[in-house]
Amino acid sequence: MGVSRVRRWGRGLVPAAGWRPAVGQPRGVAILGATGSVGRQALEVVARHPDRLVAVALAAGADSEGLAELARRYGARLLGLSRPGPAGAPAGPWRCASGPGALEAVATAEGVDVVVAATPGLAALRAVVAALAMGRVVALANKEVLVAGGELVARAARQGGGVLVPVDSEHVALHQCLRGERPEAVARVVLTASGGPFLRHDAQALARVRPEEALRHPRWQMGPLNTLNSATLMNKGFEVLEAQRLFGLRPEQVAVVVHPESLVHSLVELVDGTLLAQLGSTDMRLPVQYALLYPDRAPSLAAPLDLAAAGRLTFEPVRRQAFPSLSLAEAAGKMGGTAPAVLVAANEEAVAAFVAGRLPFPDIPRVVEDVLARTPRAAVETVEDVEAADAWARREARAALGGR
Ligand SMILES: NC(=O)c1ccc[n+]([C@@H]2O[C@H](COP(=O)([O-])OP(=O)(O)OC[C@H]3O[C@@H](n4cnc5c(N)ncnc54)[C@H](OP(=O)(O)O)[C@@H]3O)[C@@H](O)[C@H]2O)c1
Repeated sequence: MGVSRVRRWGRGLVPAAGWRPAVGQPRGVAILGATGSVGRQALEVVARHPDRLVAVALAAGADSEGLAELARRYGARLLGLSRPGPAGAPAGPWRCASGPGALEAVATAEGVDVVVAATPGLAALRAVVAALAMGRVVALANKEVLVAGGELVARAARQGGGVLVPVDSEHVALHQCLRGERPEAVARVVLTASGGPFLRHDAQALARVRPEEALRHPRWQMGPLNTLNSATLMNKGFEVLEAQRLFGLRPEQVAVVVHPESLVHSLVELVDGTLLAQLGSTDMRLPVQYALLYPDRAPSLAAPLDLAAAGRLTFEPVRRQAFPSLSLAEAAGKMGGTAPAVLVAANEEAVAAFVAGRLPFPDIPRVVEDVLARTPRAAVETVEDVEAADAWARREARAALGGR
């Protein structure tokens, strides 16, 4: 697929109003992370619109059986398994790429128009860069790729003509609010945060938090890492950096407000003081559909939002002292270079230690801060630079965790 004319919003990576992908109907969809929370919802959206979307290729990590079952149900002809177990590739009427190059093989396969990036961490970095370099549309749920590899992703998109369409509900909200606005008219954007399950916890209560409590999000059904990152607010920190990249905004132009009902998905503040907000039910199939059909609209599987039934919408400031991960992410963004990659990797190690019962909840950001403080200044020129920073940060985080 080629993109006829890439009109991006401002200095960002997302398409501006008026852009259309140069693809036929139905659009061929590849899903990286098909067996996960976002991946399965993306498949429901594809099945809802058989005249517009077709599942061409699906990839996962190790869940060979789950992947094969999805391929049978949705008719995909190419599979990718990046960590195949002893049973190897699933047998069936499809081709299956396996091993470290599997995600890239799926993202760059013939017949793919839109790549849904819905794996956690950096697994899909090479695949996303390759798809953008080919001029493809990437529907991005996997924010870590943009946080850690932002320079590379931006370069691949600009040189290859690819575009990113957000999948995160907050960025989909911003994209919709910005559709009719010029960059000069925008003062700042405001991301909403549910506040997670510990919104009202004081320091003592936070110190007693158990992993099973942190894995229960009050509003969204998500994978375990994303749910944990929502509980610490690191997820919101990643989203701040994601918004800066996607829309080409300066750090001071991205703010966060707590909105426990999660019905206002984010807001844009214009220079005249006008606030534009996007509202909708808390159903990921809505933002996923937005990304897959963009710029078209169609009826969706998500129930419309009934405001009268929803009742009151409330907003409050973030308690940054109780949830320091947000400020840590902002600081890593300002440091630039490999610091955001270090942030992502150190956080993942600390979260894993917490889930294993080896680290108290408030120590997750302490480990991240400790590793970030020792990050050597280095630029990101290649995928290898990001991977080296990732490996360094994991080693440092494990050392900081010591015997725990
Ligand atoms: N869930 C949400 O509502 C939501 C919303 C916005 C953004 N996001 C973002 O979307 C991404 C995915 O989140 P999720 O909640 O859908 O995660 P999830 O439920 O944990 O699913 C992860 C998916 O990625 C696959 N995977 C994991 N490691 C892999 C590897 N090394 N190579 C290939 N595939 C791999 C998994 O395959 P296996 O099943 O084989 O392990 C699974 O299909 C994250 O970046 C998250 O921040 C999620």
